[in-house]
Amino acid sequence: MQKKKDARDDGGVAISEGARAADPAEAAALYRELGWGTEARYSRARMKKALEGCDVVIAAHNGAGELVGLLRALTDSALDTKVLDLVIAPEYQRQGIGLRMMDRLARHPLVRGTAVYFETERRNFGFAAKCGYAPRKGLTVFCAGKALKSSKGARGKDSR
Ligand SMILES: CC(C)(COP(=O)(O)OP(=O)(O)OC[C@H]1O[C@@H](n2cnc3c(N)ncnc32)[C@H](O)[C@@H]1OP(=O)(O)O)[C@@H](O)C(=O)NCCC(=O)NCCS
Repeated sequence: MQKKKDARDDGGVAISEGARAADPAEAAALYRELGWGTEARYSRARMKKALEGCDVVIAAHNGAGELVGLLRALTDSALDTKVLDLVIAPEYQRQGIGLRMMDRLARHPLVRGTAVYFETERRNFGFAAKCGYAPRKGLTVFCAGKALKSSKGARGKDSR
């Protein structure tokens, strides 16, 4: 997938998409900056694999070309799409970038027509609502990640 610029982008932050839209080292640093884990989990090598393994990668870069936002998603292109995560650098939050990236996802050719799932914490419910998402009645997220098992059910230091 090639990196594609969105000609309609403004405000100094450009949105692009494709597996190579984001530099893995910069992406890993962004997750660490948000406190989601250490270098052991968010290393350049793991992030490279994580980006390559996604069906949709959407990135936001500032005027200096630095990565300030990243969205990763998986889709079957027919029924369902799942947003794995959406991260905006702290100093770029509340500037409408997350909303633009979610809109870009909804218009993505692989995603259009599918049900898009976005799981997030209560503090982001306002953002999800603004993006047009509503809680799915009766649905709770379960996770059996490696870190979870190894810590006997407690949240591992490097898990979200
Ligand atoms: C959640 C997150 C992705 C939102 O991205 P963002 O670029 O800051 O959000 P936007 O500026 O596009 O917000 C659009 C609208 O959503 C609503 N919104 C956004 N953040 C909100 C918050 N913390 N509380 C209430 N409403 C919020 C507002 O209505 C906002 O519009 P306004 O600023 O004009 O009032 C970003 O804060 C983030 O990266 N957080 C840390 C990582 C995370 O928790 N990711 C989500 C789960 S994977």
